[in-house]
Amino acid sequence: MEKLLSALNWIERQTHTRTNHAQMLVGKEEGLYLRDFVCRTSSLRVLEIGTFTGYSLACLADGVRSAAGTVKRSNGVYADAIEINRELDYIIEEGLQRAGVSELVKVFFGDAVDILSQKKAGADNGIAEEYDLVFIDADKRQYPQYYELTLPLVKPGGYILADNVSWYGRTEDHSDPKSAGISSFKSIVESDSRVESHLVDIRDGLLIIRCK
Ligand SMILES: C[S@@+](CC[C@H](N)C(=O)[O-])C[C@H]1O[C@@H](n2cnc3c(N)ncnc32)[C@H](O)[C@@H]1O
Repeated sequence: MEKLLSALNWIERQTHTRTNHAQMLVGKEEGLYLRDFVCRTSSLRVLEIGTFTGYSLACLADGVRSAAGTVKRSNGVYADAIEINRELDYIIEEGLQRAGVSELVKVFFGDAVDILSQKKAGADNGIAEEYDLVFIDADKRQYPQYYELTLPLVKPGGYILADNVSWYGRTEDHSDPKSAGISSFKSIVESDSRVESHLVDIRDGLLIIRCK
């Protein structure tokens, strides 16, 4: 855990120094919650959508490391991530190395909707056939698409966790496309009999969706 905490501090400092968007990080409380959730649910195959500088990815991958008892990626143990912007890949790479989890992780650079749609169409593009847990934290306007595209990849009894579902109290503002995206996503999940869900009041709201 010390290694992870020290890596998280490093990632946070780098994010502040090299970007103007450090507020996008999940932060320590939610990051450690995610790590703990991965451990508690013995999720060994994890996918993140929206990685930025790798803070939450380090937490998820450390949860996989702890649950699997290995730092090596294999057929049954992996932490994948999709990020559209590759300009900050050097921070992701060094942060994961500092956390001691880089050998568990593969980051796919590109648009998550494109990559997941290719997978759905049958392409062998490196995205796995099945995940135990998916963490959604990319473009809020696209949450409904990420949900529909990842649900078939999650094993029965697995989880989709979606960040920022409270959207700072602005989900009713339908003139804002991000608010509208989150609001539509929540309605889709609520009426979807394939899943059950509950909201965890942490940071900006984390929706825990359990796939039946
Ligand atoms: C809120 S940040 C992620 C923060 C990260 N999960 C953390 O807490 O460390 C959202 C990220 O999603 C990425 N993103 C936005 N649209 C995307 C898309 N269509 N496909 C993949 N990544 C996308 C952005 O480039 C940004 O880095």
